[in-house]
Amino acid sequence: MPQVKKPPSPADLAADCAVSPAGEKFPIPQPSEYGAEYARLEKLAAKARAEGKEVVVVMGLGFVGAVMAGIVADSVDRKGQSAKFVIGCQRPSPRSYWKIPLLSRGESPVKAEDPEVAPLIARCVRDKKTLVATYNSDCLKLADCVVVDVQCDYAKKSLGDMRTGEADMAALEATMRAIGENIPPKCLVLIETTVAPGTTEFVAWPILKKAFRVRAIRSIPLLAHSFERVMPGRHYIASIRDFWRVCSGCNAEARKRVEKFLTQVLNTKDFPLTVMDRPIESETTKIVENSYRATILAFLNEWSLFAERNGVDLIKVIEAIKVRPTHSNLIFPGPGIGGYCLPKDGGLGYWAYRHILGFEDGDTIFKITPTAIDINDTRGLHVAELIRDALRNMGRYIAGADVLICGASYRQDVGDTRYSGSEIIVRKLTEMGAEMRVHDPYIDHWYELEAQETYPAPGHSWKRFFRNQDALASLRVQHDLRAALKGAEALILAVPHTPYLALDPDEVVGWAGGPLAVVDCYGILTDEKIGRYFELGCEVKALGRGHIQRIKEEVRRRGRD
Ligand SMILES: NC(=O)c1ccc[n+]([C@@H]2O[C@H](COP(=O)([O-])OP(=O)(O)OC[C@H]3O[C@@H](n4cnc5c(N)ncnc54)[C@H](O)[C@@H]3O)[C@@H](O)[C@H]2O)c1
Repeated sequence: MPQVKKPPSPADLAADCAVSPAGEKFPIPQPSEYGAEYARLEKLAAKARAEGKEVVVVMGLGFVGAVMAGIVADSVDRKGQSAKFVIGCQRPSPRSYWKIPLLSRGESPVKAEDPEVAPLIARCVRDKKTLVATYNSDCLKLADCVVVDVQCDYAKKSLGDMRTGEADMAALEATMRAIGENIPPKCLVLIETTVAPGTTEFVAWPILKKAFRVRAIRSIPLLAHSFERVMPGRHYIASIRDFWRVCSGCNAEARKRVEKFLTQVLNTKDFPLTVMDRPIESETTKIVENSYRATILAFLNEWSLFAERNGVDLIKVIEAIKVRPTHSNLIFPGPGIGGYCLPKDGGLGYWAYRHILGFEDGDTIFKITPTAIDINDTRGLHVAELIRDALRNMGRYIAGADVLICGASYRQDVGDTRYSGSEIIVRKLTEMGAEMRVHDPYIDHWYELEAQETYPAPGHSWKRFFRNQDALASLRVQHDLRAALKGAEALILAVPHTPYLALDPDEVVGWAGGPLAVVDCYGILTDEKIGRYFELGCEVKALGRGHIQRIKEEVRRRGRD
C-alpha cells in the first residue's frame, strides 16, 4: 500500500487520546511525563554511543519516515555491525500519537503491501534494538544526524485551478524551529520532505541560523537536502534503499556529510548518488521530475477524448508507440492521477517562484505545469458523464441508480486512496443523485469518505467542491464482489487491480442480476469482453476507447444476421 491511517473522529480529537487504525486507544502523554521520557532516551543514546553507534533522529513517522527510520536502523557498517541508533520522533497529536506506542512494540505504523516492512521494524526494535520511538522532541539534543520526513502540503482552494492554492509549510517550519532549538552544533540536518524550491536555503536555514544565534552557537548549521522517491506497493523498502538518490548541502561541509550519511545507510554502490551544488537544485529536481510525470499523464487526456469521439482505441495507440524505446514511458492516465505527490508537487514549484523566490511573472512563465495538474484533478468528472450516457442509452437515469465502483486506490494493486480519481467519480455521481457502492480488495476503510469531516484535515476534504456529500460518510468498502454487484445498474472499473482483469462478463451480469452499464476507466476490458457485454445486453463505455462503438455495431449486426 501504504494503507491510510485512521483519522480521529471529532470526539477523539477533543479527547486526550489517539486511536490506532485497529481502534486501540492511547492516552497522550502529560507534560509531567516528558522528563522521564528524556532520561530514558539519554540513557539509550549513551549506551549506543559507547558501542560506537551514531545517533540518528527521524522527525515524522509517516509513510516515508517510519520506513526510512527502519532502513537506517537496519543498516550495517563494513564489518557487518549496526552503526546507527535511531530515534523516531513523532508529534503527540490526537491524529498521530498512536504511531509511537505501536512502533515501540515493534509494529510498523504503516501497513504496506511490501512483506518486508513489518519484519524490518520488528527486527530493529526487538532484536537489534537499534530503533526506538518518542514524542519528546528534546531527543534532538542527542542527535548526530536528524532526518526530516514531515509533510509539506499544497492546499488547493478550488477544484481545477491550482493557481489559487498555497503551500502549507507549518509542520516543516515548526520542525525546523524545534531542531534549531535543540541540536548539537555539529549535527547534520537532512530534509527529505518534498519542499518548494528554495525552502532549504531560504526558509529552513535561516530558522536554524537564528536559533543558533539565540543559543550563542557560532558555527553554521549543517543543513542538507535529499528528496524521497518512495513508491507505495510491493517494493516499498527497495524504493527507498535500493534506488538512486539526489542530494546537496547548504555548504561544502554539509554536502560532504550528507554524502557520507547516505552512503552508509543506502545501497549507493548499485544506485550511485547524484550530488548537486545547491539544495535548490535537488529540490527543483524533485519538483520537475514529478511535474514531468504529471504532464505526460495530463497530455494524454486530450487524445483520450479525441480517441473516444473518433473510433480510436487509445490503449492500442499507446502500445504501438511504446515499442519505440524513446517513447516507452507513455502511460494511460486512468480516471485521475492521485497519490500524495503528483497532484501537489508542481504546485509547490509554482508557488515558490513567487512566494519564496520573489518573482511576480509566475503566470507568464508557468503554463504547462498548472494546466497538467488541473487536468489531472478533474479527469474523473468525465467518467460521471460516461456513466450518465451509458445509463441513458439503456433507458435509465443516473438519479437513484445503484452504481458500483471497483477500485478506490490511485493505482493498481496498492491500498492507497490519497487523491484517487475514484474519489472524484464517487463525489460527482453522488452529486448527480446516484446511490454509490464501492469494492476494493486492498482497502478496508476509505477514510477520504468515511472521515470526510476530519480527513485529510478539517476543511480539506474534496467534499467541499461538491453538493449532497453527507451520506458518503456511511459508504463502506466491500470485499465480496458478488454481493456488491447484486442489483447494480452500473459498474465502473476504475482501477486495474489484478482481480478485476480476470472478471468474466457472464459472471458479472449474473451477479448483478441482469444487464448493466459498464464503464472501463483503465483499458481493463479486452475487445472480446466488450463484445460479450454487448451480447449480454449491457452498454459499455470507456475512457479513451472510441472503437467500442464499432464493437457494438458489429455485435448488433451479428444479432440481425
Ligand atoms: N508518501 C509517498 O508516497 C511519498 C513519496 C515521495 C516523497 N514523499 C514526500 O515525503 C514527505 C513525507 O510524506 P509522508 O507520506 O511520509 O507524510 P505523512 O503525512 O504520512 O507523515 C508525516 C509525519 O510527520 C509528522 N509530523 C508533522 N509535524 C511534526 C513535528 N513537528 N515533529 C514530529 N513529527 C511531525 C506527522 O504527524 C506525520 O506522522 C512529503 O514531503 C512527501 O511529499 C512522499
